[in-house]
Amino acid sequence: MSKRRRVIIGVGAGIAAYKTTNVVRALVKSGFDAWVIPTPASLKMVGEVTWRALSGNPVYSQVDEPKSGVGHIELARDASAILVAPATADLLARIAHGIADDMLSNVILAANCPLLLAPAMHTNMWENAATRENVQILRQRGARFVGPVAGALSSGDQGIGRMAAEDDVISQMLGILDSGTWNDQQVMVSAGGTREPLDPVRFLGNRSSGRFGVEIARQFALQGANVTLLAANIDSALLASLSEKVAVISTPTAAQMHRVALELFPKMQAAVMAAAVADYQPVEFQSQKIKKTMEKGEFSLRLRPTADILADLAAKKHDNQFLAGFAAETGSWDQVVQLGREKARRKGADIIFINQVGESSGFGDVTTRVKAVDQQGREIGQFAGAKTQIAGQIVALIRQQIS
Ligand code: CTP
Repeated sequence: MSKRRRVIIGVGAGIAAYKTTNVVRALVKSGFDAWVIPTPASLKMVGEVTWRALSGNPVYSQVDEPKSGVGHIELARDASAILVAPATADLLARIAHGIADDMLSNVILAANCPLLLAPAMHTNMWENAATRENVQILRQRGARFVGPVAGALSSGDQGIGRMAAEDDVISQMLGILDSGTWNDQQVMVSAGGTREPLDPVRFLGNRSSGRFGVEIARQFALQGANVTLLAANIDSALLASLSEKVAVISTPTAAQMHRVALELFPKMQAAVMAAAVADYQPVEFQSQKIKKTMEKGEFSLRLRPTADILADLAAKKHDNQFLAGFAAETGSWDQVVQLGREKARRKGADIIFINQVGESSGFGDVTTRVKAVDQQGREIGQFAGAKTQIAGQIVALIRQQIS
């Protein structure tokens, strides 16, 4: 597996520090080498043991703490991006003025990578002229901000000053980490559920809405890729929400998707096959509507297997191409994972994203749980949350596997 990219998460002394635990967890699950650097005062809010357990790395808050190896210069040099959450008024002031009196401020001063700040403070402090000027200085130097947002503050007041929601912080951070990394790359994504026609009005289909694949296509496009989306029966309003960086080709049946996928794949750097493809299609298509005749009693359909698109792509894949598929499984989570691992070993894709589906889970705009495994079925990532958020993590994980 490729070397994990390092991200630094600075934690200031605000009550919102507990929210940052979720951010650290998400970054680790997305495959990043996360290093948490709390300010000494913030350790009263969330302690060193928690950060160490979540990140899997040592936690230093003072410059003289590392006994060997990773000092502030090395931490700074190898960082792909730094997040500070919560960023207190005091921290913003110190960063803006180059004051380096603890590990975090030293690392930030020594680093040359993107910096994302998630401020959290009382409204009066946020609106104070000193803070406004510090924010201005930091923006001019290229720092990015997420939040603060309006809501209940720890003082009991209402107003602007709450730290942005974890999901927003995570997606901004992943966006920074991956922005431009897919520039001008060709990526193919399949989405939706195929429909296999029986007669002019009926088909065999499935419940897939195409939401997951659409979100994955959107993330690739946001990060600069030219995306071709093979769309199987996706709601037009959902497709209309995509930018012009996504070329949509309608592939309503398994056979159509198979033909287009095989034709386009040689031009692609990466393909993510997220569509729910029918495993069988009717042997015969009746050109007239099939009539119900009571005397016939039971009615049987003759079906034949469709081609396995993912497996066919895997067989044609070159070393410089990356192929990912999904394993949509039902049952308990343990069963789902077990079936997904077996599928990963069978299909030959570089990654399989295992997810649980059922009548009320997995399809449409719901929260989802996904485990990523490699060709041998070994876990390489795990995500949970809204599909938009997981889509960003999926694209980030694929990037990591390639680079
Ligand atoms: N897939 C495909 N062509 C098919 C069936 C599935 O390319 N004819 C792809 C899907 O897009 C997905 C992966 O294979 O990326 C797994 O799909 P899934 O429906 O979970 O598995 P199946 O291969 O259909 O296996 P099973 O029916 O045993 O679950």
